[in-house]
Amino acid sequence: MEYIFIRDIAKYEDQEICLKGWVRNTRHSGKLVFIIVRDGSGEIQAVAFQPDLGEQMFEMAKSLSLESSVIIKGKPKKHPKKENVYELSVTSIEPIQIAQDYPISKKEHGPDFLLANRHLWLRSPKQWAIMKIRHTIYHAISEYLNQNNFYRFDSPILTPNACEGTTTLFEVPYFDEGTAYLSQSGQLYLETGIMSLGRVYDFGPVFRAEKSKTRKHLTEFWMMDAEAAFVEHDENLQIQEELIRYIIKTVLERNHDDLVILERDIEKLRKADAPFKKMTHREAVEFLRSKGSEIDYESDLGAQDEVMLTENSDVPVFVEKWPQGIKAFYMKRDPENENYVLGADLIAPEGYGEIIGGSQREDDYELLKSRMEQDKMDLQEYQWYLDLRKYGSVPHSGFGIGLERMISWVTGIKHIRETIPFPRMLYRIYP
Ligand code: 4AD
Ligand code: MG
Repeated sequence: MEYIFIRDIAKYEDQEICLKGWVRNTRHSGKLVFIIVRDGSGEIQAVAFQPDLGEQMFEMAKSLSLESSVIIKGKPKKHPKKENVYELSVTSIEPIQIAQDYPISKKEHGPDFLLANRHLWLRSPKQWAIMKIRHTIYHAISEYLNQNNFYRFDSPILTPNACEGTTTLFEVPYFDEGTAYLSQSGQLYLETGIMSLGRVYDFGPVFRAEKSKTRKHLTEFWMMDAEAAFVEHDENLQIQEELIRYIIKTVLERNHDDLVILERDIEKLRKADAPFKKMTHREAVEFLRSKGSEIDYESDLGAQDEVMLTENSDVPVFVEKWPQGIKAFYMKRDPENENYVLGADLIAPEGYGEIIGGSQREDDYELLKSRMEQDKMDLQEYQWYLDLRKYGSVPHSGFGIGLERMISWVTGIKHIRETIPFPRMLYRIYP
């Protein structure tokens, strides 16, 4: 039998239709049963009236357990009081499978229980809303890049060397070649891509064997790396700002109802779609020290520093021009002061922390080589990367956005573990 999606229900007012889905809730009163049915695209209240169903079907409907799968037929009717809401006046209901003792109920469950039942927890309204926003953000990022001359260029996941330092590498035995590593970021490969395609991006899982047990760290997360030839530091930040504002606008447009389910302060999100702030690392440290932080001029920002930095800001803040010693080997020196590099981190407001890391890249062969020697890197392993500086080197820049960090901020979900279907963390790999 042909069936429709609940999302399209308004098109079928007063027509006999069929829905397939799951029972989210039921209650009954006299000759009426109210069943909330969800089908992935939406949910609707189905109202079954005993004389319409007959004794036997009505009793079955009354006893439907949570998460049972069903086929329901009936006619969509406008809700008598609520605008744009429909109810289904049921003509028949047929179970596909009766669920037994669904373990997740309305009562509060602890995070350990929910994570152990992640395969079921994903059906809950908030998780459903988060996954839909994840879908929108994923597509918004691709849309923006596709409209701005970037080609998708897939970087490998199994790699012979590190991109972001050797302390967070996952090792994989690789036949006779020895050890391979799971990619921490596709950046270095994207730099080869721009020499062919001009502007490129990748978008996929990356891995960090990070022993941090915080609400912002996963060991497997999704990153979109973008890289562009002829783009220098300031333009790199411009592209990032446009992209982030495009994401915010798109989510506000496409996921309003999901933000409501998540009880997100929508006004706050709307305000983030305005010109971003920018300060140098030095300025950031001065500001933070004036507020009582013990951060020094050669250090990375701590989680608390990130919170303080954006405390009174509606918009994200770029922290640019970092001391070279605490940033990666590939970042280009600031021509105005070579103790600094032309890198920037983008810090989200409301305490969500760093969402983007990026920089202009060192494009001079000798400078890059000496920087790599300083870090005691094996130059032979990276000869392909150095080659790019030998054959038509150009100024270029790029950045990487952590998809789950972005989702956390947009959804207002404090812990990153809820922003990916199956979070991988220090102490969790099941299910
Ligand atoms: O700042 P990161 O380490 O930058 C890079 O990897 C560059 N190679 C990217 C580039 O220039 N193409 O990581 C980029 C972003 C961070 O800003 C953060 O949003 C996210 O990736 N991220 C994590 N997200 C979740 N869990 C972790 N353990 C993360 N580590 C970084
Ligand atoms: Mg970073």
